[in-house]
Amino acid sequence: MNILKIDNLTVKIDDKVILKDFNLEIKSGEIHAIMGPNGTGKSTLTKVIMGDKNYKIVKGKISYNGKVINDMPVNERAKLGIFLGMQMPLAIEGVTNADFLRSALRAKEGDNFKLLSFIREVDLLTKKLHMDSDMIHRGINDGFSGGERKKNEILQMNILKPDVVLLDEIDSGLDVDSLKLVGQAVMDYYNEKKPAILLVTHYQRLLDYIKPDFVHIMNDGKIVISGDSSLALKVEKEGYDKVGKCDE
Ligand SMILES: Nc1ncnc2c1ncn2[C@@H]1O[C@H](COP(=O)(O)OP(=O)(O)O)[C@@H](O)[C@H]1O
Ligand SMILES: [Mg+2]
Repeated sequence: MNILKIDNLTVKIDDKVILKDFNLEIKSGEIHAIMGPNGTGKSTLTKVIMGDKNYKIVKGKISYNGKVINDMPVNERAKLGIFLGMQMPLAIEGVTNADFLRSALRAKEGDNFKLLSFIREVDLLTKKLHMDSDMIHRGINDGFSGGERKKNEILQMNILKPDVVLLDEIDSGLDVDSLKLVGQAVMDYYNEKKPAILLVTHYQRLLDYIKPDFVHIMNDGKIVISGDSSLALKVEKEGYDKVGKCDE
C-alpha cells in the first residue's frame, strides 16, 4: 500500500495558487526525487505534507497509510512518522539541540524512551556526520553554517526514525565531502528502516549517493514528466526547458 498518497492537491498562499491538482503516490521503501525550476512549488509541497498552516489546501487530499491528514497538526504528523528536512532550517536560540531532540523523541516514544541509548546514538551520529561534539549542546542551528544545518537535519532524521522522509534540497550548502557523508547517512538510514523518501534536488550529484526509483520533473505546481533515474541525467545535460518540452 502507498504510505503517502497525494490526490489532486491544490494549495494556495495568500491568493496565489501554488500547487495545482498535484498527484503523487509513494510506497514504503521507494525513493522519489523531485526536480524542477525555481518557484514551481517543490518546497511548498514538502511543507504542506508536513502540515505548515501558512499554506491553504483548497482542494484534494494528503493521505498517510490510507488516512486523510489534511487537517492534522504538524506535531501529530511528526508523531505518525513524517519528517521534513528543510531547505532553509531556522535557528532557534535558547533551545539546545540536545534538549530539542530529547523532547521530540520522548514525545514520540513515550515510556519507551531510553536516555542512555539516546545519548549513545547522538554521539555516534555526530561522529559519523563529522559534526563538532559541542554542536549538540548549542542552540538549534545557532551560528551553524548552511552545511552544518543540513547535517543537523540528517541527525534529527536519524534520531526520530520517520517512515516518510521529505528532504528539501538537503545537498545545498554542502561541500563535496559533506555531501558524501550526508548521502551515505541517508542511505544507511534507508537500508536500516526502508522508509519512503521524497527528495527535492537540483543536482544529479546527490543522486549518485541516494539512488531514486523515480524522478519527477515539476513545473508550475504539478508534475510534468516522470521517469527513472536517467531522467535526472537528461535534465542535467539538457536543462528543464528542453526536457519539459519533450512531452508537451
Ligand atoms: N510564504 C509565502 N508567501 C508568498 N509566496 C510564497 C510563499 N511561499 C512560497 N511562495 C511562492 O510560491 C511559489 C513556489 O515556491 P516554492 O515552493 O518555494 O518553490 P520551489 O521550492 O520550487 O523553488 C514561489 O513563487 C514563491 O514565491
Ligand atoms: Mg524550494
